[in-house]
Amino acid sequence: MEVITTKHEIRRLVWDARCGGRRVGVVPTMGALHEGHLSLVQASAAACDMTIVTIFVNPSQFGPHEDFAKYPRDLAADVAQLVPHKVDALFAPPLDEIYRPGHSTFVDPPAVAEPLEGAFRPTHFRGVATIVLKLFQLIPADVAFFGQKDYQQSLVIRHMVEQLDLPIAIQVCPTIREPDGLALSSRNVYLNTDERQQALALYRALRKCVEQYRQGCSRVAELQGNMHSELLEAGIAGIDYAVVVDRNSLQPIDSANDDSVALIAARVGKTRLIDNLLFS
Ligand code: PAF
Repeated sequence: MEVITTKHEIRRLVWDARCGGRRVGVVPTMGALHEGHLSLVQASAAACDMTIVTIFVNPSQFGPHEDFAKYPRDLAADVAQLVPHKVDALFAPPLDEIYRPGHSTFVDPPAVAEPLEGAFRPTHFRGVATIVLKLFQLIPADVAFFGQKDYQQSLVIRHMVEQLDLPIAIQVCPTIREPDGLALSSRNVYLNTDERQQALALYRALRKCVEQYRQGCSRVAELQGNMHSELLEAGIAGIDYAVVVDRNSLQPIDSANDDSVALIAARVGKTRLIDNLLFS
């Protein structure tokens, strides 16, 4: 696996591959790799002739009081995880290769960025859309792979790609969970033993919500109320949202149906976790 740090080199590698008729997949990440990321790498390796992984902790998607400075960074460990997989190149640029001094152009993200995460992290998706568009420019791949764990992010990227006519396909892959249901996240390393136990309430609340729907309850107020109760009973008071909304628009609904999705964002100790479950 080649490790590339410059824009010039990565663009050249990908263009040469595309010109040679090879199908290229890209897996954008911020590092601190886990099995969730590796499942995206495997999906790319299965569908493409060349797989590029990117690692870049993108400052523009972190709010002023968020964890940019302490976000886990261990390039050597990430490289070791990627080596056994079919990865052709890792693009790991330094900060100033991506954001030159004086950088002032940002993407105004699509409407689907406004609710939920957008309400609690107002500049987050502006940063995500900007870096993802920049990565797609530098790595003109055929297909990009993202995890369903960041459900709203995947919608923001899909809408941006559609609305800006970007020539790349987006493939969203299932959330990977620990055996006890905790969704894998680079931020799970922040949890102590008690918090990790508490964090299981997120998936439990989502599962019970979908189960309740399948047993015939479609009243969103009741489904949401039960998710809140489940989180509160586990001692999680910092609930940003626990909602059932339309899976395409993320707009509120009164009555759930097969096109609904349940999403939770909550603080467990000082760590903010997100998770979601589709109704069908
Ligand atoms: O999901 C992530 O890791 C990041 O938001 C992404 C898509 C790599 C952009 O920095």
